[in-house]
Amino acid sequence: MSTSAMMNIRDNLGVYAEIAARPRVSLTPLPTPLEHARSMSTRLGRRILVKRDDVMSLALGGNKVRKLEFLLGDAKNKRADTIITTGAQHSNHARLTAAAAVKMGLKPVLVLRGKPSPPKGNLLLDRLLDADIRFTEEQPDAAVNNVAEELRAKGHTPYVIPGGGANAVGTLGYVNAAREILAQARHDGLRIDYVVHATGTGPTQAGLIIGFHILNSKVKVLGVSNGPDEATGKQLVRHLIDDTIKLLGVKLSIPDEEIIIYDDYTCGGYGVITQEVVDAMMLAARTEGLILDPVYTGKAMVGMKGLIEKKIIHENSNTVFLHTGGSPITFQYDSEVSRYF
Ligand SMILES: Cc1ncc(COP(=O)(O)O)c(C=O)c1O
Repeated sequence: MSTSAMMNIRDNLGVYAEIAARPRVSLTPLPTPLEHARSMSTRLGRRILVKRDDVMSLALGGNKVRKLEFLLGDAKNKRADTIITTGAQHSNHARLTAAAAVKMGLKPVLVLRGKPSPPKGNLLLDRLLDADIRFTEEQPDAAVNNVAEELRAKGHTPYVIPGGGANAVGTLGYVNAAREILAQARHDGLRIDYVVHATGTGPTQAGLIIGFHILNSKVKVLGVSNGPDEATGKQLVRHLIDDTIKLLGVKLSIPDEEIIIYDDYTCGGYGVITQEVVDAMMLAARTEGLILDPVYTGKAMVGMKGLIEKKIIHENSNTVFLHTGGSPITFQYDSEVSRYF
């Protein structure tokens, strides 16, 4: 079957036609690979596939790229000349926003939380990309507004992207990804029961839930929180789902039960690196040659193992582990990771 035929899974509401009509730039070839993880499946006792959203051509890839295709499309449409965003100093979102901006001929400004630290991992790449980096110890949203004001006063047209690309426009990228995953699974003659992934600010999960819902698929999206507690995570995803439906102007009702988040695999909280996380990273590396990071995907792997052990991921089921990227973080926390070898 051709790629375009594979992608032509119909949705009843015309949501995908709405999305296709929205401004978008191309930042990487799609679809990303969907790989059968045979050694990992044998080890874990479930059939596992890995959706390689870490394999993208832009600046080492990751889930932010899908969001940025729509966000940068919107920015170009609004004739912005500067892109401002915010995040932690190890932020993948910041690195990829900087890369996407320069690729589109726009100037990136990154408002990063905390005092300046040595340039390693993503921070090193931010510098390589010549992002204008502003460190802040105040409330990041206030700092972003101040930078936007400063740039407007100088005659620039800034476009502000929220941390994590977490708004309705960014969410569209993962509505598309749901269709991509189903098309690839169909091509391989496989039924998918679960998609497991790291969830934080919410658009990856919100987009997948919308996409699977409108395609009448029974795939359960299991978000493994990298920090927020379950209630907060669910609220973030709920808002993004509602805002995205509103943006698309379609009639769609997605029940709260479809938002599933586990907060018991944060391993001590956002950014905390423990033996369990490094064990999960080693499992992926030593079965599939798959490199995870200790802040997001490593914890998603801890979660997937835990959900299999608890039989929440059933026997004889098929699970897609969505690799959302983030490998530069491993080099930012090299000593914290290697301490557990
Ligand atoms: C590698 C990686 N995985 C997962 C996430 C979480 O995705 P989302 O913000 O869409 O919930 C992030 C967010 O920064 C990330 O960098």
